[in-house]
Amino acid sequence: MKIAVLPGDGIGTEIVAQAVKVLEALDLSFEMETALVGGAAYDAHGHPLPEATLRLAQQADAVLFGAVGDWKYDTLDRPLRPEQAILGLRKHLGLFANFRPAICYEQLVGASSLKPELIAGLDILIIRELTGDIYFGQPRGRRVATDGLFAGAEEAFDTMRYTRPEIERIAHVAFQAARKRSQRVTSVDKANVLETFQFWKDVVSDIGKQYPDVALDHMYVDNAAMQLVREPKKFDVVVTGNMFGDILSDEAAMLTGSIGMLPSASLNATNQGLYEPSHGSAPDIAGKGIANPLATILSAAMMLRYSLKQEAAAQRIEAAVKRVLVQGLRTSDIFSPGTTRVGTAEMGAAVVRALA
Ligand code: IPM
Ligand code: MG
Repeated sequence: MKIAVLPGDGIGTEIVAQAVKVLEALDLSFEMETALVGGAAYDAHGHPLPEATLRLAQQADAVLFGAVGDWKYDTLDRPLRPEQAILGLRKHLGLFANFRPAICYEQLVGASSLKPELIAGLDILIIRELTGDIYFGQPRGRRVATDGLFAGAEEAFDTMRYTRPEIERIAHVAFQAARKRSQRVTSVDKANVLETFQFWKDVVSDIGKQYPDVALDHMYVDNAAMQLVREPKKFDVVVTGNMFGDILSDEAAMLTGSIGMLPSASLNATNQGLYEPSHGSAPDIAGKGIANPLATILSAAMMLRYSLKQEAAAQRIEAAVKRVLVQGLRTSDIFSPGTTRVGTAEMGAAVVRALA
């Protein structure tokens, strides 16, 4: 079992170190190799995704990823910005299926900005298509307009685009995931305005016919954003495109009050995967030893489940995380009066102890 460890920038190195500690405490044998990615790789090698890092990721069974990005890179040309590393990994590894669970932990109900009764027991799964849509549509960039009312003016554009096979494969992923849950899929689109998403809706409906046991409904993205804060527990599996999935998954994550708790998995057709916390590099708290490592530790559990086929070990980690929460240990982001505030490394060590 070969794991490429790519900590990245900001809090990435601190949180990934804790997940590695937890993996090492299992009695399994992994081959783990670390490489630079994002701004850290740009600083050292002049590119956010160096050849060697990409090769390491391609040859591994799974990638454990921290986070990339820092404001100091905002003025670089786009191809050199840290975010291009994660986009490049997704594209090169074909990681089209992104699983972003939003789960409300019983002990953290009070951390949400919504009323406890709205989110207690919340368990939804956002499935985001990750290698198509406006994120990867060509052409893009700046030019001078040659037609229309504003001919001669500068303009910038991005192209929203999906092919039938791209929509079909993510629809299959969603329906199959729903079969293991409560047999419901909500497909989110903007078919009332965008051709791309009328097509999305039609193709998802076609595939849905192969899953008569799964109930499918369609929702416009603006309404979905509203329903997520109005009555989030109405959702179960949500499937949507790259851009809407980016936005709705942040919204859903924050409903739980603890984005520092939420893992994610990005899989390709052969179950090779990249596993990363749902949150970003948080440069404002980097180096302070206060970041919450649990999302990354839970991402390592997803890695064991989906790519390495070690279900028992995945469950051990998840149970250990629940145990430290029951013990009352909290990093600052999830701290509340009456609980015990701990730092990043202490939290990692507590999970390792709880494994036993
Ligand atoms: C995410 C992030 C990325 C995205 C950025 C860092 C490129 O926001 O994984 O959700 O937009 O996909
Ligand atoms: Mg995002």
